[in-house]
Amino acid sequence: MLRKLFIETVGCQMNVLDSELVVGSLRRLGYQIVDDPRQADLILYNTCSVRQHAEDKIYSALGTLRRHKQRRPETIIGVIGCMAQKDQELIRRRAPHVDLICGPGQLARIPELLAEIERSGSPQIAVSLGRAEASRHEVEDSFESYDPLREPSMRPNTFQAYVRTQFGCDKFCTYCIVPSVRGPEQCRHPHQILAEVRQLADQGCKEVTLVGQTVNSYRFEYGDGRVSRLSDLLYLLHDVPGIHRIKFVTNFPRDMTDDLLDAVAGLPKVSRYLHVPAQSGCNEVLKRMKRLYTVEFYRDMLERCRERVLGVAISSDFIVGFCGETDASFQRTCDLVAEAGFKNSFIFKYSPRPGTKADELYPDDVPEDVKRRRNNDLLAIQNRVSLREHRSWIGRTVEVLVEGPSKKFDIQSEGEGLPQLTGRTDTDHIVVLDGPLSWTGRFLQVRVVDASAFTLFGEVCEADSDSVSPCVGETEGKVRSNRIPLPLV
Ligand code: 5AD
Ligand code: SF4
Repeated sequence: MLRKLFIETVGCQMNVLDSELVVGSLRRLGYQIVDDPRQADLILYNTCSVRQHAEDKIYSALGTLRRHKQRRPETIIGVIGCMAQKDQELIRRRAPHVDLICGPGQLARIPELLAEIERSGSPQIAVSLGRAEASRHEVEDSFESYDPLREPSMRPNTFQAYVRTQFGCDKFCTYCIVPSVRGPEQCRHPHQILAEVRQLADQGCKEVTLVGQTVNSYRFEYGDGRVSRLSDLLYLLHDVPGIHRIKFVTNFPRDMTDDLLDAVAGLPKVSRYLHVPAQSGCNEVLKRMKRLYTVEFYRDMLERCRERVLGVAISSDFIVGFCGETDASFQRTCDLVAEAGFKNSFIFKYSPRPGTKADELYPDDVPEDVKRRRNNDLLAIQNRVSLREHRSWIGRTVEVLVEGPSKKFDIQSEGEGLPQLTGRTDTDHIVVLDGPLSWTGRFLQVRVVDASAFTLFGEVCEADSDSVSPCVGETEGKVRSNRIPLPLV
């Protein structure tokens, strides 16, 4: 029977990937995606708990569906992902019309839970064990890995895909809810990851982005004591024919080891792009955040990245207004951003998360207007740095994977000149250029002619290569520099 599914996803790449996999499993049950929740038989929200704002948006969406559920009680409404794991009771109280609550470690059970709701008419809740509720092993087991077969039609496009390297996080930064809601860090077997990437390549995927909360902490121990790290994984995946670009996010500064940087430098398919959140430029704040490094360590790490990976682009995350952040500590963060030369930074106002150490130990003592001002001030500094960094690309030729029409492109205006396309370089810079929609999914050589703080503007140099630019084709399988030997895998 044909049924209609509406799904909204908020949060990180991990959620985007989870939604893709959930949609894949539901498509196999005969569900078809619709854009309007009111047309749907099943409405799912894949949720994020990192900041209060993300949760508020979901409660507000659920609130607007209350009347709809009264009128059409057969509609199934589900909350899945991090909020479901963290607040199952609260969701039941605040939105009693919700039928399905399913944490990120239980997503494989969704088809079975839906069948049970239809059979019994009663709500179903499936969450994993809390980290303090049982032994590490038991908690790990309760977060089931979810790796169904990939289906290209589930992704926004067929030529790019996320691939999970690990679940969960073990860092326990004091402000962060992720280790509680996504559970202990569990790394997937390298061969399982390889098989998935091969399958994606067979389906026409050209770029994979490896995702993990701290992807560079990846460590898989084989039964015989051998260990694979992220660098080993990169060498392994580099040989997959059809894959032309490999990215990985997000990195933890302490785990940015030389072997990883050498792999990035040596493997031409690996993007010279590192997202390494600093969070603060002040040692006292970093200590209260339990980030396990000092700002001096972070600056040295940046230097090491740039020394070992020539031309690398680095981006960061910052939290402003964390507990006890004074004007002086904020100034240190401003100094770091002014000097570090980040390509871009994501800046967030601290949002206390019940259940985290910071919420338990420290008062949320920076007023909201101060947080807002610091956010704006830091953004203004980063924008100046980004503009300078972006302008340094003018006149250079870069390789761009065209992702599709830019947001500005209006389908109505097709036929009135070339549409505006958007794509990304090897260093993750966004490039806007004019060209036909048929260039989507192709690697092109593009000359940068202008730049803003957010975007490079380019003109294509050659567009007659098939799907891969000569630049990638020529270097396929070779190392970028002969300094680094390829390990035997
Ligand atoms: N408040 C604000 N920002 C947060 N982040 C994580 N937890 C919080 C919080 N409680 C930010 C960090 C992280 C990014 C994904 O979200 O900067 O790197
Ligand atoms: Fe959260 Fe820290 Fe883990 Fe990142 S490393 S997910 S900020 S606990």
